[in-house]
Amino acid sequence: MKELLRRIAHSRLGHGVSDLVVRRYFFHWQIREEWGRQEFFANAFKALRFNGIAGDYAEFGSCSGTTFFLAYREAKRHGHNAKLWAFDSFQGLPRPSESDHHPSWIEGKMVTTVDEFHAICRKRGIPREKYDLVEGFYEETLPARSATDAPPDIALAYVDCDLYTSTRSVLDFLEPRLKHGMIVAFDDYFCWSAKQVSGERRAMLELTTRNQRWEWTPYVQFGWHGMSFVIEDREALPT
Ligand SMILES: C[S@@+](CC[C@H](N)C(=O)[O-])C[C@H]1O[C@@H](n2cnc3c(N)ncnc32)[C@H](O)[C@@H]1O
Repeated sequence: MKELLRRIAHSRLGHGVSDLVVRRYFFHWQIREEWGRQEFFANAFKALRFNGIAGDYAEFGSCSGTTFFLAYREAKRHGHNAKLWAFDSFQGLPRPSESDHHPSWIEGKMVTTVDEFHAICRKRGIPREKYDLVEGFYEETLPARSATDAPPDIALAYVDCDLYTSTRSVLDFLEPRLKHGMIVAFDDYFCWSAKQVSGERRAMLELTTRNQRWEWTPYVQFGWHGMSFVIEDREALPT
């Protein structure tokens, strides 16, 4: 019996079956992760609308358009009038530095071109006038925008750029745009490595240590990876 099972495992049939199992496993996880994100966006836009927090949706890391579409759909569903912004190199991840140690963050991974991104938006029914994109590496595009440059008013910032260095550039850009009641979400908040804390979490901790004006109140955790915060103005908190 053991020998028979061993033969099947090494046969074409065996390989086919194990391939199917692997595919089903990843498919299953993709769905679970998408549900987690969908639940997050539903909660976030419900809360923003209910609490009267206006402003745009700014996404840092947009490639395949999955979260961009979820944000569009949930904003619309909850009657929130956010314009959407996609910030991405559209060339995939930059070269990770020493401070970006992680087995899954590999230079050039996750490329979607600008044309492909527009095509995804079209296919998913996101009207062109509802969104804008800012193409290029954050280290170049973000410092070129002053605090009053678009988008100056953000209700929900979604940080999904994996790397510590990328997130640091994003948070430098967001710092003058932080406002009471907005939500900031990190898709990779729990993506640490054997050597380092999660890059997104590390960049956030640096910001919250140097800038004490804002309380980062834990909001919704989504999936095994993501975490979000409501920004509260400490000056508005009772003493
Ligand atoms: C995990 S993907 C984003 C996935 C996307 N939210 C989705 O649902 O399809 C990470 C993205 O971050 C972008 N990215 C990371 N670091 C960047 C940087 N420094 N400048 C510009 N884009 C960056 C990559 O191009 C990549 O598209």
